[in-house]
Amino acid sequence: MSDPHTDAQMSPLEVLARKNAEALLGGGQARIDAQHKKGKLTARERIDLLFDEGSFEEIGKFVMHRSKDFGLDKEYYLGDGVVTGYGTVQGRLVYAFSQDFTVFGGSLSETHAEKIVKIMDLAMKNGAPIIGLNDSGGARIQEGVVSLGGYADIFYKNTLASGVVPQLSAIMGPCAGGAVYSPAITDFILMVEDTSYMFVTGPNVVKTVTHETVTSEELGGASTHSAKSGVTHFSCANEVACITRVKQLLSYMPQNCEENAPMLPYEAGQNESRPVLDNIMPENPNQPYDMREVIEGIIDTDSFLEVHQNFGENIVVGFARLGGRSIGIVGNQPAVLAGVLDINASTKAARFVRFCDSFNIPLLVLEDVPGFLPGTDQEWRGIITNGAKLLYAFCEATVPRITVITRKAYGGAYDVMNSKHIGADLNYAWPTAEIAVMGAKGAAEIIFKREIAAAENPEAKLQEKVDEYQQKFATPYRAAHRGFVDEVILPSQTRQKLIRAFKMLENKVATLPRKKHGNIPL
Ligand code: HXC
Repeated sequence: MSDPHTDAQMSPLEVLARKNAEALLGGGQARIDAQHKKGKLTARERIDLLFDEGSFEEIGKFVMHRSKDFGLDKEYYLGDGVVTGYGTVQGRLVYAFSQDFTVFGGSLSETHAEKIVKIMDLAMKNGAPIIGLNDSGGARIQEGVVSLGGYADIFYKNTLASGVVPQLSAIMGPCAGGAVYSPAITDFILMVEDTSYMFVTGPNVVKTVTHETVTSEELGGASTHSAKSGVTHFSCANEVACITRVKQLLSYMPQNCEENAPMLPYEAGQNESRPVLDNIMPENPNQPYDMREVIEGIIDTDSFLEVHQNFGENIVVGFARLGGRSIGIVGNQPAVLAGVLDINASTKAARFVRFCDSFNIPLLVLEDVPGFLPGTDQEWRGIITNGAKLLYAFCEATVPRITVITRKAYGGAYDVMNSKHIGADLNYAWPTAEIAVMGAKGAAEIIFKREIAAAENPEAKLQEKVDEYQQKFATPYRAAHRGFVDEVILPSQTRQKLIRAFKMLENKVATLPRKKHGNIPL
């Protein structure tokens, strides 16, 4: 910190200018250079990338810590290791904090935490998203319990803000210890490849406790958390890509839970028939196809932003635009594990459904699911509880909800995947839809077991019964006769039908029974 005696010789305006210049330098030029050398940007450079040019207003620039222990009485930095404030991103109000690794490794002190909490309070009162740019060595070790208290204050605010305003966490450096739990409570986590990591305990502690040898990258790097744990929703090649992704994500979201996401201008009647979809389904019902191609065939051109792309790949989730409207899409993915529902797919989709429902983003479900994944691994790890999360999330969602059954809708998965019975507003089926308790072969083997065993030619009998079951149930028409499917449509008509249906549903009002909160199976 500068010398107060020098300040005494300056005019008040000069003192302010000096302090401003000092704050901009954070922990000093040498540490800024070290940050750049690691391939990382500084806290302020990240803020500049995030906000519209010249729109950022800083709050708490001159805040300093209040600690005296372990030499801290001699080391002060204006701003105390975090830049906080508000501005516009693509013209919309956003609050952000950006941790400054050049000041005590971005570690969180009592005052650092207070600055973050202050902007979270403002964001909640004024109904605008909060972006956290995380780069921190965790709790400021010299401060002890007040730093831990600061974390807890943030966790508490994160929880109160959940479902009120969107919260996004970009991890751009270390994020260790309890520090990971603030991002974990927020709606989306983005990580930068090779320069960021998240873990509850680092490689050294892991070595001591479990005797495993593992690098930081293997334990908690972007690729680990995007593909193995699912902790992060996006793995970004570098910091610029990460901040670009944050802005893109925001564009699909409303400012808060009372508003709708921004609509892009759309001229009805443009490019609505999509003949390519009429040829997308393979002749053999057991042959895979890529549900992403169906999504692209339905939505506004190039508008799909896939979430959790590398995790639970048997289900695809993401945001898109349909006739200019922001929607959330959940699609079974026949190209991976035949699109079966397992633990990862269920939890991934459940969280996405709940985000969309929290923030008034209508849901489109594209269904081609052979059922839940059988086996001891899934049963012992709790497919029952985890599958129930997706069921619960759909049941509870009050946003406009539409399902298109493209092919298989079997067993419990038929019910779970946004069926009419659990509150979907409209259900369409393609002529290739098969809606039944199970596949024709499995069904025939069970219900005609004795008949097949007694037959002169059991194989031929089985085939006869499979064909019979297939003809009766492996179609959309039984469901359509009962009104469980509202209309059987040509694939090429899907886009047009959905644009109209979501427009029809745009003023939907649905309320849940009065309660304190539900008890989703966690
Ligand atoms: C105070 C810290 C600090 C911390 C780093 N620094 N972490 N100061 N408290 N937690 C300081 C360093 O002293 C150093 O100061 C500067 O930041 C940069 O750190 P380096 O170690 O030189 O950088 P690097 O080699 O890149 O390593 C970064 C790091 C490492 C991996 C983050 O610093 C580290 O392991 N820090 C400790 C992490 C930790 O155990 N945190 C507590 C977690 S427990 P100078 O002056 O040299 O620039 C926790 C509990 C939260 O967070 C609980 C909430 C429920």
